[in-house]
Amino acid sequence: MDRDASALQLESRPLLLGGQELSPLGLLGVGRGVVVYRVRRATSTEDLACKVFDASRATAFHSELAVLTAIASEAHVPGLPMLEANSPAPGPGAPGAEAQHLLLTRPVATRLEHLTSSSVLHIFHILSHLHTKLKVVHGDVEPKHLAVDPASGTVCLLDLGSAAPLSGSRVVLPEARARRYSGTLLFASDDVLSALAEGAQPAAPHPRQDMVALVKTACVMVHGTIAKAAAGRAEAVAQQLAQQPPDIARAASMVRSFWEQQLNASTAAGCVWSELVADAHNIPGSEDVALYARASQQLCGQLATLVCPG
Ligand SMILES: Nc1ncnc2c1ncn2[C@@H]1O[C@H](COP(=O)(O)OP(=O)(O)OP(=O)(O)O)[C@@H](O)[C@H]1O
Ligand SMILES: [Mg+2]
Repeated sequence: MDRDASALQLESRPLLLGGQELSPLGLLGVGRGVVVYRVRRATSTEDLACKVFDASRATAFHSELAVLTAIASEAHVPGLPMLEANSPAPGPGAPGAEAQHLLLTRPVATRLEHLTSSSVLHIFHILSHLHTKLKVVHGDVEPKHLAVDPASGTVCLLDLGSAAPLSGSRVVLPEARARRYSGTLLFASDDVLSALAEGAQPAAPHPRQDMVALVKTACVMVHGTIAKAAAGRAEAVAQQLAQQPPDIARAASMVRSFWEQQLNASTAAGCVWSELVADAHNIPGSEDVALYARASQQLCGQLATLVCPG
């Protein structure tokens, strides 16, 4: 996931955490008002991921920090980012330097080349932990957020920045943030797409949203032709969202019609995947853990048969 090192010049300020400077070693990714670096502390040889938020994304920083803190308070589940440290840093900094918002996590993950049945099993394990123990939805399962921990070979689910609390969750986010859909529209579930297409509030967070996003992600990762079509549609959707004001309703209905076409039961691939997407939509809430576990195990078993063995 490392990008061109010359882009490191993007960060002109030193990365400071607790008064200690972090050495940027590579660029892992760029998001909206966010840059993610591979970094190292002067006192350590371990590489860590450092997510740097613009001042304009301070709310996003605080939300992600709340979720990462909750994850760190539970028994460690391999494949979920572990919070190592965070700012605001009290460090010396240049006089007048803006406050930096940094999240330092491990592991630094690498690209997931193929979705295998064992990685599907592990992603379900991670989602079940989020849904039933932490009572949050991930909110942005998509191909870019599936990766591998190179040290253990475990599949990782990155970017908790769109996570939203289910009822009874100990993770408290500002109401406006908890209700706002900030996941990737192309992988959203029907309840989210319908609400947004009608200009309404997005549907309340529900585990089905992650399950649908995972099945759609797998579909895109398995079928080259669907992946190509999805890339084209993502571009058209991005154009709608880049308008001022963004045309979210039009973008959501474009995504809905995209999946209607791709999951058309008249094609062999469409037929199999449309059943799975429908099953993912029927996943129950996680208040009844046994019911949720049964339905998600069944979905996991079906999905595992459609990806690479191994
Ligand atoms: N721990 C990590 N290891 C490797 N790469 C990472 C890590 N964390 C993030 N990245 C890369 O950086 C990209 C952006 O990070 P992240 O998704 O957390 O930010 P974002 O603001 O949500 O961006 P986007 O809107 O593109 O999803 C990720 O898609 C991924 O490619
Ligand atoms: Mg992201």
